[in-house]
Amino acid sequence: MNITGIKGMNDILPGDIETWQFLENTARRVFGLYGFGEIRMPVVEKTELFSRSIGETTDIVEKEMYTFTDKGGNSLTLRPEGTASVMRAYIQHKLHARDPIAKLFYIGPMFRHERPQKGRYRQFHQIGAEAVGIDDPKIDAQVLAMLMHYCEEVDIRDVELQINSLGCPECRPGYRQILIDFLEKRLSELCEDCRRRYRSNPLRVLDCKVPGCKDATVLAPSVLDHLCAGCAEHFAQVKMHLDDLDLVYVVNARMVRGLDYYTKTTFEILAGSLGAQNAVAAGGRYDRLVKELGGPDVPGIGFAMGVERLVLMKGDERIAPSCPDLFLATLGEEAHRRGFALVHRLQRQGLRVEMDFEGRSLKAQMRRADKLNAAYSMILGENELADGKVALRDMSSGGQYAVAIEQIATLLRQRLAREAQPESP
Ligand code: HAM
Repeated sequence: MNITGIKGMNDILPGDIETWQFLENTARRVFGLYGFGEIRMPVVEKTELFSRSIGETTDIVEKEMYTFTDKGGNSLTLRPEGTASVMRAYIQHKLHARDPIAKLFYIGPMFRHERPQKGRYRQFHQIGAEAVGIDDPKIDAQVLAMLMHYCEEVDIRDVELQINSLGCPECRPGYRQILIDFLEKRLSELCEDCRRRYRSNPLRVLDCKVPGCKDATVLAPSVLDHLCAGCAEHFAQVKMHLDDLDLVYVVNARMVRGLDYYTKTTFEILAGSLGAQNAVAAGGRYDRLVKELGGPDVPGIGFAMGVERLVLMKGDERIAPSCPDLFLATLGEEAHRRGFALVHRLQRQGLRVEMDFEGRSLKAQMRRADKLNAAYSMILGENELADGKVALRDMSSGGQYAVAIEQIATLLRQRLAREAQPESP
């Protein structure tokens, strides 16, 4: 029997990878404009890191983590998200001592044992960013501006930015109790899951997709009506700065996040075209997390985008894979051997060059040059070796250019550079 990959964990093949590279490289470029530097963390962490930061009663920690015991008897988990790991690294390496402000981004795989469907996988990839050490609501607006700027640069349009505030330890418990009291009166209308969790995690009930729960919570009290003065002021300022930056957003007081570390601002970027799994990106503020993990009392805010969902949004748009600059065909044994060494020299001079190794007929070699979509080809035979000259053939126009073998790299580079220039109007 053939061994196949694991359900919900996908290969990213040539032809698709170019889109991934484009999305990743654009993140590096755009995030750099805002002062974010890259960080890479291990994919495995101590289980406790996630249960403590994401929250014991969340779906992620309750049911979705890939947790195992290693040979030393330690409970380890494949990271289901990046924020907790970044904060662990921030504390462990005392990044706060180097600079009270840390702006970090990461790109990599995450793991959640969810039911796979379009846009939802068990190994998926996030591009995330975290800004630690700034309380000012301007950073909330700037992080959102960066996220929307990124979407524009990768030409992801028709998305909606939704924002909310979840309050802080001062005002959230009060709201929580008000919500529990509200739900308690409607228990018979709630689904079994919600009846079980309405006390431990009442906010999740607002996010339940079961129609009965949706109906029962239409008139649920709004978190925004129960913010303390500090949180209300923070949220007002975030909205004011978003307006100043001309960012369009919708306030959604029912937005609930599946992770417990959030305080104050939370947000999601939704795309109608994605169907059920419509969040392209999500994030928020987590002002208590670093302290709760044993670090200094510093605030943080960040987001993560789902790369698979970005790729889905790009649809059939494909970025052409890079093709060889030159295909070298050979005639005869001596030319084949010398051609092999020439290919090596040209590659070391920075050109993408291919040849056929098997000594096939000239026709078969030229078929291969076509298949690889080589920009130029040349034939090296006894005559060319004797003259020290070859004919470079432009594969799209059919034009031929005689050139000394030593000059191939210079000529090709000139021609390719000219072709890469945008055509003048
Ligand atoms: P999250 O909402 O759990 O937040 O995930 C962020 C994004 O990752 C989602 O909006 C979605 O695009 C993508 N995603 C999540 N689960 C899957 C899945 N099973 N398959 C495909 N894509 C998925 C976080 O992870 C937070 N760490 C975000 C954050 C950063 N908050 C503050 N800083």
